[in-house]
Amino acid sequence: MRPFDVEAPVFWVGAVTLALLFVWLLWIVLAGLRVWVLGNGRLVSTRLGKWAVVTGATDGIGKAYAEELARRGFAVMLISRSQEKLDDVSRSLESQYKVETRTIAVDFASADIYPTIEKGLAGLEIGILVNNVGISYPYPEYFLNIPNLNNFVNTVINVNITSVCQMTRLVLPKMVERSKGVILNISSASGMYPVPLLTIYSATKAFVDYFSRGVHAEYKSKGIIVQSVLPFFVATKMTKIRKPTLDKPTPERYVSAQLNTVGLQSQTNGYFPHAVMGWFTTILVPVNVVIYFAMQMHKAQRAGYLRRRKQC
Ligand SMILES: NC(=O)c1ccc[n+]([C@@H]2O[C@H](COP(=O)([O-])OP(=O)(O)OC[C@H]3O[C@@H](n4cnc5c(N)ncnc54)[C@H](OP(=O)(O)O)[C@@H]3O)[C@@H](O)[C@H]2O)c1
Repeated sequence: MRPFDVEAPVFWVGAVTLALLFVWLLWIVLAGLRVWVLGNGRLVSTRLGKWAVVTGATDGIGKAYAEELARRGFAVMLISRSQEKLDDVSRSLESQYKVETRTIAVDFASADIYPTIEKGLAGLEIGILVNNVGISYPYPEYFLNIPNLNNFVNTVINVNITSVCQMTRLVLPKMVERSKGVILNISSASGMYPVPLLTIYSATKAFVDYFSRGVHAEYKSKGIIVQSVLPFFVATKMTKIRKPTLDKPTPERYVSAQLNTVGLQSQTNGYFPHAVMGWFTTILVPVNVVIYFAMQMHKAQRAGYLRRRKQC
């Protein structure tokens, strides 16, 4: 056999492989530019419907969604625990953005609040629902050592999981009737892999991610967008981060970036530096390594917390 006969197939396999790699990389870069540079900022507008509904709307990320949606002209239904805080946010939105607001004060830790919410939402043309309410651990802890474990399990499941399913049950039918609507479910990067010492939180957020992607697949042909949003750290009361940085943004900065991704990604980290972190921790690093480092980080945080508590 002449050398040419052997080299030709090898040459073509190599050339086709390189060409495919190039096309794949180009696709990733173009898709990245579409999401993170051009964005889809105009999709979330009052063309979807007059009202925005936000759960956990009196602080952090939820409050930032309520503000941004009011700035875009939505009338806003604010749902949270404390009537006093709801009234504050409501007054501020009405005076700053001249939009209508309503409030429902309920504790999502209870499972019997949904008739009250259903009554409050009756007759509203809801364009967007933000299932934002969520709680985490007071500090990282081993499953069996979580204070008041029985109660904690029920509370976290009700706030983080039941709220998302029940609010979707209440809002989705009218969206389907009108063939339009957006539901944003705030999961967490902690739902992308198991996070030891925040195990229940992490597992509830994995549920939210799977639920969102499943419902999206079921209803996208009916004109409905259900997006799973998985932030890494955002500077809020929950994370106790007081000084925002590039990778730990303010809720306002996070929300404005996240809304650009609606309609472009059914599952998103919502903010470019978080997308890079998501890509790194799911594609480049084996999941067992991520779990190991999360365990070490949370063991150190737990020890610090327990030490400080002893000193008090
Ligand atoms: N911050 C982050 O780094 C981060 C990262 C990933 C995912 N997330 C997710 O993003 C969402 C918002 O987090 P956040 O950091 O903005 O939280 P946050 O600052 O603690 O605010 C939570 C909001 O939910 C309300 N809320 C809490 N428990 C409630 C209950 N049982 N019933 C009714 N309302 C309740 C709070 O009202 P009160 O003021 O009355 O407590 C507050 O308005 C959560 O689902 C969280 O898991 C956050």
